[in-house]
Amino acid sequence: MTLQAVLDELRERPGSGDLIPVIDPATEEQIAEFTDGGAAAVDDAVARARASFEAEVWRGKPGNERAKVMWRIADLIDEHAEDLAQIDSLNTGMPYNQAHMIMATSADIFRYYAGWCTKINGIAHDIQMTGGITGAHSTMHGYTLKEPYGVVGLIFPWNGPVFNACTKLAPALAAGCSSVVKPAEETPLSALLLMRILGAAGVPDGVVNLVTGYGHTAGAALTEHPDVEKIAFTGSTEIGKCIVAASTGNLKRVTLELGGKSPVLIYDDADLNMAITMAAMGIFIHSGQGCISGSRVFVQRGVYEQVVEGIAGIANSLQLGGPKDENALIGPLISGKQLNRVMGYIDEGKRDGVEIVTGGHRLDRRGYFVHPTVLAGVDPQMRLYQEEIFGPVVTVLPFDDDDEAVALANNSDYGLAATVWTREIGRAHRLAKRLQSGTVSLNCQMVFDPAMPFGGYKQSGWGYEWGREGIESYLHTKAVYTQL
Ligand code: NAI
Ligand code: MG
Repeated sequence: MTLQAVLDELRERPGSGDLIPVIDPATEEQIAEFTDGGAAAVDDAVARARASFEAEVWRGKPGNERAKVMWRIADLIDEHAEDLAQIDSLNTGMPYNQAHMIMATSADIFRYYAGWCTKINGIAHDIQMTGGITGAHSTMHGYTLKEPYGVVGLIFPWNGPVFNACTKLAPALAAGCSSVVKPAEETPLSALLLMRILGAAGVPDGVVNLVTGYGHTAGAALTEHPDVEKIAFTGSTEIGKCIVAASTGNLKRVTLELGGKSPVLIYDDADLNMAITMAAMGIFIHSGQGCISGSRVFVQRGVYEQVVEGIAGIANSLQLGGPKDENALIGPLISGKQLNRVMGYIDEGKRDGVEIVTGGHRLDRRGYFVHPTVLAGVDPQMRLYQEEIFGPVVTVLPFDDDDEAVALANNSDYGLAATVWTREIGRAHRLAKRLQSGTVSLNCQMVFDPAMPFGGYKQSGWGYEWGREGIESYLHTKAVYTQL
């Protein structure tokens, strides 16, 4: 399916609301526009999902049949990786090669969860009960059943459209749920091709239903819908809280992946070349628009100057450009809205006397490009230190010892992904225990595997994606008792 076919299909999408423009963030030009699906499209999609769930066209299939379909989805993602990467790089501004690499990971999420389709089972208990109503000693048998929730709403952001979709769809499908998928209004394109892939792989009609539209219209309608059992959401903390509030009508299950303000601790005994390179890439890659971006770097005092200079040097050497610039390593921010947001934090820092080591400005060209920015002399009370900026902006502060490093790192409402660079192995593991973070990386950064659970402490989220925990969050556990 070519880009043109996707654009044509988008134009024909159902809806009656506002026209929503799709912008190329590297050029600021409009690529397409589509009609907000709104509440009507959500009602329709939920009804289709419900009908497919009740008819058991998917959840009723044997696990090995579902697994085969999941493997075919993975293979088709690989087969269409070029088209998918072309669409996502155009829509997000991310360099093509990076978008292409992410397609391989996206396919592997389906392969990982394909394996779970045949491993969804409860456990058995022999129950020895005394007392009870009859007062007699009775032997009972008990067991648990794992059952799919039902209809789930999957709402995700624009920073990795195919990847974000697969992270939620793969466990939902493996569990046997039917779903309604709502991509971000900025990036609806690749979801259309992904839907075709699901169909071609053998996912029955009605099991996965796409709704395109704004968050405050379509997203809100999905979250409030009385016939949806669960919402899995990735996005801002602000909207995460709205989702919790909106889900109370029918007490939906909610899982939230809400980003962070992730700390990177660099000790003076670390492999500094590696630590500096990874700390720089850990914030500047994808222009800092990653939930796990390492936006707060802490450096042991003796090597502080060296690390600040090293990260600033990398910041100045990174080539920025759109998907068509073959040498570009870093793309633009997603939108004018995000550009204003990121520049708002930087300008506020300037007014408050923060030291701009490098960057601090947008590029003098079309597109939403911000120069990779290193900030020093930051007060931990400042908004730019506490809040998720979601741009290529890192703060660097010195520390003296473990206690100070831990206190600085944990001084955040977030707790998603922490990194420690030190050659002292005992200290590394002690810090792994002390850091309030869903993921801790020791002498590595940005390494993730779908077999490992991913979740957040504090306001970084609720629940887990990936791993066994990821599929459990789409399954009820039912307890069955039987008198022998
Ligand atoms: P957002 O949280 O508003 O949007 C994410 C998704 O939620 C989109 O699909 C949107 O349509 C939907 N949504 C928005 N309002 C909704 C509502 N009331 N009910 C249901 N769904 C709704 O994020 P936004 O505005 O694009 O970015 C703002 C900030 O959020 C960023 O600067 C960043 O700090 C954070 N963010 C974090 C992400 C992460 O990966 N954890 C991804 C994107 C944004
Ligand atoms: Mg928003």
